[in-house]
Amino acid sequence: MRKTIYFILLAVLALTLVACGGGGDDASGGADTGAGEKLFAQAVIGTQAGCITCHSLTPDEVIVGPSMAGIASRGDEAYIRESILTPDAQLVEGFPAGTMPQVWGDELSDAQLDQIVAYLLTLK
Ligand code: HEC
Repeated sequence: MRKTIYFILLAVLALTLVACGGGGDDASGGADTGAGEKLFAQAVIGTQAGCITCHSLTPDEVIVGPSMAGIASRGDEAYIRESILTPDAQLVEGFPAGTMPQVWGDELSDAQLDQIVAYLLTLK
């Protein structure tokens, strides 16, 4: 009898943990970092090749652009936003101007941009 009660308590505890674990991630400004991660990993976004086709998440691995590993330690939110909207405003050393598409302000909705920025801010 006692065992049954413990089992029920354990089951309730487990369910509570599962229910609480799946909530939205509010790490930065409330934008959905999970949605940003998915967008970043899309092979195509709108009419463009997606971020992941040029940006690795492995430290120091260059595909076409610099790796995004640790981007949040190299720049703040304003820098990351500017780097996406006007990539040539501040070039990463060693990379040529005009390689990163200059169209993200049109291709991404404001919400999508916020999500990608929020996601990149988690890559410390
Ligand atoms: C065709 C290749 C290409 C695509 C697609 C691309 N980028 Fe880039 N990106 C680059 C290159 C090259 C640079 C380095 C030159 C510069 O600073 O603009 C760069 C620079 C950056 C930087 C600054 C990196 C740093 O280390 O300071 C960020 C942030 C960035 N890109 C984000 C994105 C995001 C987010 C997307 C998708 C919405 C994206 N990029 C799509 C090529 C690309």
